[in-house]
Amino acid sequence: MQSWLIFVFGLGVLGQGEMCDFELVTREEWGARPPTDVQTMQDPVPYVIIHHTYQPPACSSSEDCIKAMRWMQDFHQIDRKWNDIGYNFVIGGDGKAYTGRGWSVVGAHSPSYNNQSIGISLIGDWRVELPPPKQIETARKVIDCGVQTGKIRPDYKLFGHQQVRQGTECPGQRLLDEISTWDHFSKTPPFVWVPNEIPT
Ligand SMILES: *[C@@H]1O[C@H](CO)[C@@H](O)[C@H](O)[C@H]1NC(C)=O
Repeated sequence: MQSWLIFVFGLGVLGQGEMCDFELVTREEWGARPPTDVQTMQDPVPYVIIHHTYQPPACSSSEDCIKAMRWMQDFHQIDRKWNDIGYNFVIGGDGKAYTGRGWSVVGAHSPSYNNQSIGISLIGDWRVELPPPKQIETARKVIDCGVQTGKIRPDYKLFGHQQVRQGTECPGQRLLDEISTWDHFSKTPPFVWVPNEIPT
């Protein structure tokens, strides 16, 4: 009986490890302020949207990636007056995944998609250069983890930000070329959001 229980427990732990096999930095660990409001969304979501941060630039040490997270939270929460950092997850050049709003929470990264997608941003400007392999690998693992844990639909569609929003270069052409080789990448978004502000 005892060894049977240990076996089952062991399988559980192993399963978890396989499902979400990357280093996750909690909000507490990067020194996030609490969100001013949290809106939950219904899981599992049908879309995954990939972004680059453009600014802040790429970080390779965890110290710099943490600074980037705080900078973004200040920018989104204080300057833009959003509830929180806009993305659900952010991937650093240190190969770690940083918790933004996290799973099951409506983001502020892709209008019209925020309540039905997970937005993942890779820190850096990826118009010309490709993120380092470990940063790409972790982004893919976060998506897999979401599918395995019931946060993302198994038949999800993957898009780069510019495919679902007019007038942005995000996530950078080089990164877009990269994700277009991933499973679930789709060339046909259900709709493209067009900003209604009149340019001045
Ligand atoms: C997301 O929000 C839009 C606009 O507020 C709404 O029309 C849509 O039904 C929502 N979708 C989901 C999945 O909640």
